[in-house]
Amino acid sequence: MCGIVGYIGDKQAYKIVIDGLKRLEYRGYDSSGIALFDSRLSVCKTKGKVEGLVNKAEKEISLDGNVGIGHTRWATHGEPNDVNAHPIISNNKSLVIVHNGIIENYATIKDELISKGYIFKSDTDTEVLVNLIEYVQLTEKVKLGKAVQLALTQVVGAYAIAVFDKKKPDEIVVARLGSPLAIGIGENEMFIGSDVTPFLNFTRKVIYLEEGQVGVLRNHKETKFYNVENDSIISPTIENLKLELSEIEKGGFDHFMLKEINEQPKAIIDTLRGRLKLNQGIIKLSGIDNNINAFTSANKITIIGCGTSWHAGLVGEYIFEHISRIPVEVEYASEFRYRNPIINQNDIVIAISQSGETADTLAAMKLAKERGAFVFGICNVVGSSITRLSHSGSYTHAGPEIGVASTKAFTTQITVLYLMALKIAKSKGVISKSVFNKYLGELNLIPKKIEIALNLNDKIEKIAEAIKDSKNCLYLGRGFNFPVALEGALKLKEISYIHAEGYPAAEMKHGPIALIDENMPTVVIATSKGHYEKVVSNIREIQSRKGKIIAIVTEGDKDVKEIADHYIEVPETIEPLTPLLTTIPLQLLSYHIAVKLGKNVDQPRNLAKSVTVE
Ligand code: AGP
Repeated sequence: MCGIVGYIGDKQAYKIVIDGLKRLEYRGYDSSGIALFDSRLSVCKTKGKVEGLVNKAEKEISLDGNVGIGHTRWATHGEPNDVNAHPIISNNKSLVIVHNGIIENYATIKDELISKGYIFKSDTDTEVLVNLIEYVQLTEKVKLGKAVQLALTQVVGAYAIAVFDKKKPDEIVVARLGSPLAIGIGENEMFIGSDVTPFLNFTRKVIYLEEGQVGVLRNHKETKFYNVENDSIISPTIENLKLELSEIEKGGFDHFMLKEINEQPKAIIDTLRGRLKLNQGIIKLSGIDNNINAFTSANKITIIGCGTSWHAGLVGEYIFEHISRIPVEVEYASEFRYRNPIINQNDIVIAISQSGETADTLAAMKLAKERGAFVFGICNVVGSSITRLSHSGSYTHAGPEIGVASTKAFTTQITVLYLMALKIAKSKGVISKSVFNKYLGELNLIPKKIEIALNLNDKIEKIAEAIKDSKNCLYLGRGFNFPVALEGALKLKEISYIHAEGYPAAEMKHGPIALIDENMPTVVIATSKGHYEKVVSNIREIQSRKGKIIAIVTEGDKDVKEIADHYIEVPETIEPLTPLLTTIPLQLLSYHIAVKLGKNVDQPRNLAKSVTVE
């Protein structure tokens, strides 16, 4: 996610745009920039947060002008630096753009523009877009609004953009598809924002631009809106805002964690975007494509990480061994770095990290590289230390994860691991075309199935009420869902401070069952795929000792529903993909328990979002 802001009116634009960018920093903060027009175009941009932009702008550019656009970036293409920061200027220096989204076919368009003499300075897809608009404007001899509309008919991907032409300084053109864009309507002034927070203090009259719409915003002339597809004129609805600022930053949710739990369908869609080509039956993953021999000839894969990322790695072990038939070890990065590990030629080390800054993971990667391993990073922050240290990697596109308890990072990390394992298995010839396509089809359905699981929120809240005063809790799972049991236990303990442990279900009789009594609830993942009958007998063992059972079952389950004290039904999918669904109720359960106990859900005691020290 990035944040875009714009203003055109009778006031000075600079402070409005800067304050608006500060409001949107939760959407991304690796670089930022501003463009202002006051008889000439001034652009200032910098790596880092908006505060750094202010310091730089006040030294380098004129802050005058009643028109301005700004951007705070969460990089997807091109690492965070001054060149890749937005606003981005077109080749003829007339147009300037800010963009939130991903242009999937930017490489093809870039090649075409290069063949027409265009020169590119940045690594971004956005620079391709602004030069495409310029090219259309010049060759079709049309105004900016029409040029934007025509250019966007050639684009595949997601965008929310604001574009300004210094030759026509009385308008800003906006458009959106797949990324949000809000327009604030004032007295002879128009505001732009990725959400309404940048202009909430100026107006509560808002137009939420719809998918595939373009707007030509003017402060003293009529503002017009069109459909990208056919240029037909539209009359959008003007809404009067009721929400308060703090509610809007959290998307109307009470906490960032709940917002991020609910963002998982979109986060997985964005992580699959441009990679899972269902119709062609292929997976495009440049980090693997460019290093496929390293993976197909690998003798062993070692996955390293911490906390939730380590749990994702454990799911990865089941995925790679089941699908790609490559031996996998999973290690806490903190253990790996100190135990003098054996690393042979052709070994691969996969480092998983949401923040890309975890000290133990970084140190373990350095050791692996020194000993000759090929190091591959799976990370959510473009340009972070782990991505720069890796030989190659694949990003999760979960967007900023603000809540300390990791949720959407976990499911998008697992999504990338599936894409990797399937691509490697295909290259090694260890998976049939029909099974490969079955996986692709099922993976493509996961976002919708997560939506269904999220609808269980109210039922899960009631279960949270029933067990919130427990002092301890057990989580059990088998196979692909054993790591999910560990992750569910981590979620509960880190935000509600209730002691919780995850175990393979079959381990109960080797000790943990001694804990069971009427005060010890046990959360059991008992989906229909994966040793179901054995899990049912584990449940019966627990119940015979008066233990309370909260079961995660597959829709349509019969047996477990009969015996469990509480049950939550998740949609059916193939066994290897069940972790993407079974984790959802566990996230919601821990969230509601913590809220009911009055805990600080987004910033739990003693914890930091990124552990950058040992
Ligand atoms: C998980 O909810 C915690 N916030 C924590 O365990 C986290 O997963 C761990 O610190 C690793 O962080 P990383 O993914 O940014 O490397």
